[in-house]
Amino acid sequence: MLTGKKILLGITGGIAAYKSAYLVRLLTKAGAEVRVLMSDAAKQFVQPLTFATLTGNPVFTEFFNPENGEWHSHVKLSLWADLYVVAPATANSIAKMAHGIADNLLLTTCLSARCPIMIAPAMDLDMYSNVATQQNLSTLRSRGFLIAEAGEGLLASGLSGKGRMAEPEEIFTEVNNYFNAAQTLSGRKILITAGPTREKIDPVRFITNYSTGKMGYAIAEELAQRGAEILLVSGPVQVTAHNQRITVIPVTTAEEMYRQCVALFPTCDGAIMSAAVADFTPETASSSKIKKTSDEMTLRLVPTKDIAAELGKLKNANQVFAGFALETDDEMQNAKKKLQSKNFDFIVLNSLKDKGAGFGYDTNKVTIVSRQKGAVDYELKSKALVAKDIADQIEEEFSQKTV
Ligand code: CTP
Repeated sequence: MLTGKKILLGITGGIAAYKSAYLVRLLTKAGAEVRVLMSDAAKQFVQPLTFATLTGNPVFTEFFNPENGEWHSHVKLSLWADLYVVAPATANSIAKMAHGIADNLLLTTCLSARCPIMIAPAMDLDMYSNVATQQNLSTLRSRGFLIAEAGEGLLASGLSGKGRMAEPEEIFTEVNNYFNAAQTLSGRKILITAGPTREKIDPVRFITNYSTGKMGYAIAEELAQRGAEILLVSGPVQVTAHNQRITVIPVTTAEEMYRQCVALFPTCDGAIMSAAVADFTPETASSSKIKKTSDEMTLRLVPTKDIAAELGKLKNANQVFAGFALETDDEMQNAKKKLQSKNFDFIVLNSLKDKGAGFGYDTNKVTIVSRQKGAVDYELKSKALVAKDIADQIEEEFSQKTV
């Protein structure tokens, strides 16, 4: 049920706009109060009167009412809403959202929104698969936008492929999931490491890796949505955390990450080590820029501390402890070795040989290797969905600890 929930629905100019009428119906029937914003192009597809009638509220399309000058405040609208759903979201509006363009009331409200924003992309298959659109979606995802994935099928152009707006029932389910996620991890405090570390060579150079932190942040969001309190010890990343139950503890080096984790882990019910920690660090960091004095240069590296191995030693019988293994060769053998040597309850294996898996992608393909069940393979899916599989495994591990 969505009783008392305030939902702002933004409708941009695509033929799927007619389906938004069904979405309004589903939302209002479930008890939500809905207010609608339309772009000029959307009005070419469906009359505002349709939405005004269905919601019982006036539809906002302009910054002010031309008849009496009444100002439609985008700030007030976004403060009013618990969730802002933009469905359909055209390629053009998605591009504008990704770049902070605010040239109509609907987009201005996106830019000033304090509430979460969910978008339902709808466009032709070539526009959808275009690198520009995919990058814009990726940008929005990394800023915490929720995305009701486009479906495959017949498109308005007569072509068939991916780009159809998710069906109103599917968007409704996503909205419901957002508000009514079962608080199955309420009362649990979980430490997560994410992102790369940077090991300083001199004031202008460091050693790092390709990790973006997307997977760790997706896990943090999912666990927080299930009610857990999250301590997210994060290396330098571009992604941001959105759920208020997530506390980000920014660190730079492996040593800083180690210190934070060792101090925090005993206060937690579990930990997930998703950071790509540098295994080596320069023996000494130069305080001034190293000059090019000869043709060759030797950098002496020493090992960093293995954070996971240390927490594995500190772990008590009630704590759930999980790690990652990113491998290129002998994947399963290496993952099983790390499961044992770091005392994990389960390890999430991703192979760099799998297309779409690993650093930087929005997707991942994992195998979860647990002491309980052995290896279970999952399909290639978005990191947000992989995070759900990992969260399910965390819940299962907690249930085993308490029997
Ligand atoms: N890990 C860690 N601290 C380190 C190195 C790794 O906490 N100094 C954690 C990672 O976050 C991950 C797991 O250990 O959960 C495995 O990391 P990985 O880099 O795959 O393994 P390594 O132990 O570094 O072994 P190798 O580099 O030889 O594969």
